[in-house]
Amino acid sequence: GKGNYRHFMEKELHEHPAVLGDTLRQYLDPKTLEVRLPRLPFDPARITRLTISACGSAFLAGMVGRYWIEQLARLPVDADVASEFRYRNPPLPEQGAAILISQSGETADNMAALRLLKEAGQRVLSVVNVPESSMARESDGALLTVAGPEIGVASTKAFTAQLAVLACLAIGFGRARRELSTLDEGRLAQTLLEVPSHAAAILEQDAQIRELAAEVAKARDVLFLGRGALYPIALEGALKLKEISYIHAEGYAAGEMKHGPIALIDSEVPVIALCPSGPLFEKTASNLQEAAARGGRVMAFTDAEGAKALSRFAERVIVLPQLGEFSTPILYAIPVQLLAYHVAVLKGTDVDQPRNLAKSVTVE
Ligand code: F6R
Repeated sequence: GKGNYRHFMEKELHEHPAVLGDTLRQYLDPKTLEVRLPRLPFDPARITRLTISACGSAFLAGMVGRYWIEQLARLPVDADVASEFRYRNPPLPEQGAAILISQSGETADNMAALRLLKEAGQRVLSVVNVPESSMARESDGALLTVAGPEIGVASTKAFTAQLAVLACLAIGFGRARRELSTLDEGRLAQTLLEVPSHAAAILEQDAQIRELAAEVAKARDVLFLGRGALYPIALEGALKLKEISYIHAEGYAAGEMKHGPIALIDSEVPVIALCPSGPLFEKTASNLQEAAARGGRVMAFTDAEGAKALSRFAERVIVLPQLGEFSTPILYAIPVQLLAYHVAVLKGTDVDQPRNLAKSVTVE
């Protein structure tokens, strides 16, 4: 049941810290700070290219995975939605490898992608939440997200659990390919292990996020901006808002704003920015300043250091815990999902069963 929560989605949002802890413990040794992966169906040191295929939020997790794997393992990654991947007749390398990501493990387009990949001689690893699912069974190997059953149609804890698995894979691949030293691995593992407690701290900021939701609920259109591995999280924020509150939202790479969407900006459009301090901060902050200069209502998620610069022009700044850059996509996914939840509650929509959507999409 829902326990003391109003919706399954609310309950599942509050399971983020536990699920992240469980999933990380599965693949990361907290004592030695080493990633421990089960035997994979391919040798990450010997592949030249990796294909990632998924749908919806799972695809957005895959996009984050691409940033991480390319960064840490120097392995070229192609990530695409299954419904495009399967029809574009992609050239695939000999002895190539693929990762499929899915909560249900039953999504029709991704099952078709799986069969196509196997026919093309690719070794397929799936990251799934349902161990007995078709995808887990038909893949050459499966890594489980330890998210437990997800009832709300909009994916929440399964998404962050997918990110946790992909983060461990990126570190494991980096080590296998000799791109990461033991020291690097330990440092990255350490920031991952801090995610669950920071996730709990973010859930404590519920009242602040509810205040932001009250503003967002009045909007007709909302823009989410992020850069680097936070760009897919901006897409996740927009997807979740559309799906459960029915407000039109778009996610954009912060640097792309000036190539089109800036034309939309006026005092009616909330611009929700994911902008932690770090190497990409200055560039994103200047994109946001441009939006503010055009009357845009900038509402930023950042950390204490970023808040100093952003509060000069942002209408609202929500200060999140500061964590190593590597782990921020996992952490920042939580407040954007929570925001969508509160907006939907304010709008009075059917949060757990949004119109026209199914939990498991078994049609193509
Ligand atoms: C978004 C959402 C969907 C699913 C997508 C894939 O909140 O829930 O976009 O992520 O339908 O489903 P799975 O992961 O079961 O393949």
